[in-house]
Amino acid sequence: MGELSAAMARVPADEVDREIELWLGKICRALNLDRSAVYERDSPDDRVRATHTWVRPNFPPFPRDYDPEKLIQQSTNLVMSGKMLVFARPSEIPAENQDTRRFVEKYGPKASAAIPMWAGGRVIGAATFGKFRTTRAWPQELLDNLALSVRLFGSAIERKQSEMAIRAVRTELRVASRRNVMSELVASLSHEINQPLGAILSNLGGVARLLSQGNPQPAMALEAVNSAIDDTKRTAEIVRRIRSMFKHHVEHKTALGIGTLIDEVVKLTTGEAALRKIALQVEVSPAAQRVIGDSIQLQQCVLNLVMNAFDAIAEANSARRAVIVKVAPEKTGWVGVSVSDSGAGIAPAVASRLFEPFVTTKKDGMGLGLLVTRSIVEGHGGRLWATPNPDQGTTFTFTLPVADRKRVGASRRA
Ligand SMILES: Nc1ncnc2c1ncn2[C@@H]1O[C@H](COP(=O)(O)OP(=O)(O)O)[C@@H](O)[C@H]1O
Ligand SMILES: [Mg+2]
Repeated sequence: MGELSAAMARVPADEVDREIELWLGKICRALNLDRSAVYERDSPDDRVRATHTWVRPNFPPFPRDYDPEKLIQQSTNLVMSGKMLVFARPSEIPAENQDTRRFVEKYGPKASAAIPMWAGGRVIGAATFGKFRTTRAWPQELLDNLALSVRLFGSAIERKQSEMAIRAVRTELRVASRRNVMSELVASLSHEINQPLGAILSNLGGVARLLSQGNPQPAMALEAVNSAIDDTKRTAEIVRRIRSMFKHHVEHKTALGIGTLIDEVVKLTTGEAALRKIALQVEVSPAAQRVIGDSIQLQQCVLNLVMNAFDAIAEANSARRAVIVKVAPEKTGWVGVSVSDSGAGIAPAVASRLFEPFVTTKKDGMGLGLLVTRSIVEGHGGRLWATPNPDQGTTFTFTLPVADRKRVGASRRA
């Protein structure tokens, strides 16, 4: 048990599955069992499916396309409701579990223990341990130990799932951030388009002059026209490339709880905060209502401001290392989200140009974060501004429209 618990605590998220399979084998060999499986269900509405199996060589495998919800549905429900289903010999199978009796007749374990898999107060799956050819007793102490093993599997699986979910959110945010940066870069791409357009114009102007002089000089005119055709193709190609960059941008605005959204961002930054020894605190006023917005874009905004706040503290090497994210009602119909840091404040050299592209005081800065954040906020009808804190550091605040509510004009700008 000690080894198992250490292994489950230590295993990295993407090796959890392999480790569980390995341990099913170890447990079966140690207890002289022949077959074992772990079952998972992502949510109570989902189907229970076998996710890990171990079978002793030369013993009957699990049925092909094994689907516990079909073959032993009633027993599956029983175990998923948190009860064990244990029998030492087929005649011990409770009369009410007919489906298990049929399963045993057909697929053959002589003794079996099915144990619910608990994690965080819920049953997220189960595990079964089977003995073929001979019967087997299941003393209480053995069942207790098996239940504990299954619980250890459960918490490892849960850790794996939450880590995978966080990874998925991270990827989504990265994609979103690239998209927003791109949308700002369109400005500079327009230069690329303007340049061939200028060349086309001058070539066609030349042709027009030749034609109006009544002296077409076919070779020269042809060269000018061909060159205009090439430039037109180049321009079309640039436009096509820009389009394909944005093809996947589907904005999705819904009513959402800004507190939950911030919690999600905080989860993404706890590692970074710990690394930089910064305390990140969230204060959500109970009076703050749901807002309307695109959750990925808004997470990006909060993330940008929190990262800037971290940078400000790191840069200033502040003794007080705290970032506070606050959500509170603003003017009627608006919610304010603010991020305060205990850094050194905004450098006077950039104070008037914070939201311009490529303005940065950081060695590796892109100088796009605030611009992207402001364009998202304004795309939601809100505003973003910065104010120096009375004691130390800076507070960035943005506003968002409350869902289902009349609001007064545009929100305040400090
Ligand atoms: N919380 C803050 N405290 C002090 N200065 C800040 C803060 N947030 C942003 N700034 C200043 O604004 C500049 C631009 O920020 P941003 O657009 O996010 O780009 P980047 O973070 O890549 O530099 C930063 O380089 C920094 O000088
Ligand atoms: Mg930044």
